[in-house]
Amino acid sequence: MKPLEMFPALAADLGEVDRVIRSRLASEVVLINTVAEYIIAAGGKRMRPALLLLVARALGSTSSHRHLLAAVVEFIHTATLLHDDVVDESSLRRGRQTANAAFGNAASVLVGDFLYSRAFQMMVEADDMRVMRVLSDATNVIAEGEVLQLINCNDPDVDEQRYLTVIRYKTAKLFEASAQLGAILAGAPAAIEAGAAEYGRRLGTAFQLIDDVLDYSGVTSDIGKNVGDDLREGKPTLPLIHVMATGTPAERDLVREAITNGRTEHFEAIMTAIDRTGALDYARARARDEAQAASAAIDCLPASEFKQALLYFSAYSIQRDR
Ligand code: IPE
Ligand code: IPE
Ligand code: MG
Ligand code: MG
Repeated sequence: MKPLEMFPALAADLGEVDRVIRSRLASEVVLINTVAEYIIAAGGKRMRPALLLLVARALGSTSSHRHLLAAVVEFIHTATLLHDDVVDESSLRRGRQTANAAFGNAASVLVGDFLYSRAFQMMVEADDMRVMRVLSDATNVIAEGEVLQLINCNDPDVDEQRYLTVIRYKTAKLFEASAQLGAILAGAPAAIEAGAAEYGRRLGTAFQLIDDVLDYSGVTSDIGKNVGDDLREGKPTLPLIHVMATGTPAERDLVREAITNGRTEHFEAIMTAIDRTGALDYARARARDEAQAASAAIDCLPASEFKQALLYFSAYSIQRDR
């Protein structure tokens, strides 16, 4: 079950968002429809639209722009996935072949550009300068995050600080923007808007920390992505960074070599080092801290079933196995 299906109060809103997504995907260029439909129809958890809608509804907004903007954040997210799978040379996403594997890198990059620019056409329709500022800033920061990550790849000296910067940029920023937009749509006071933004940022950080744990501990059929991709790419995520920081000299040499060369032939030995140093539990504990901070950040919201759903999301972000 998708996390959102737990909340019938949101079902009508999410159905409407899907309708907007479908109608706005349309293009006269057949390849765009094919590729965009391919990745959108594969599903996805729709976390970012849900966040926007839940914050808006928790603050009593029924703004007519909420479905449009929820579709915008999902389009931006989908564009980043199309590009990310090319950069990461990934072959599996949402339980099926990635778009780059099915249609090639060029089609994926270009349809990603289509989705970004379609998102910008749509956000202009909301005719609100603050909305446009939040979304254009977020999109720019995501791009910075992906480039920072590119620089960090194959660098075994990346520390927790540099890693956290990457995940705040590439993932948490769009969660932050989504939650903040919900508050903006509701015309919330500055302090509440800041609380919503912090909730999104913390939740997004926890979410990516767990995504990086699942890259080592997950099951391919559950996560819909290949396990071990990060190691293959020489991506220094927290599990490996923790071994580098606390492992024996032999363990550190092993991980240093794997990150530098992006090799997986010592996967089992690396898993043993990860287990021995408690690296996955360490990363889970960092995620738990972030999720707790997320929940605390929305103390300021009035009690409602929508706030309950946001609190559930904090718990879900660290318990999820897919
Ligand atoms: C995948 O995001 C990219 C990360 C930030 C880890 P999601 O896990 O939200 O992807 P979908 O939309 O559910 O497929
Ligand atoms: C997520 O990064 C991509 C963005 C947030 C842009 P990852 O590369 O870690 O995500 P997956 O594992 O491919 O979904
Ligand atoms: Mg990736
Ligand atoms: Mg990943």
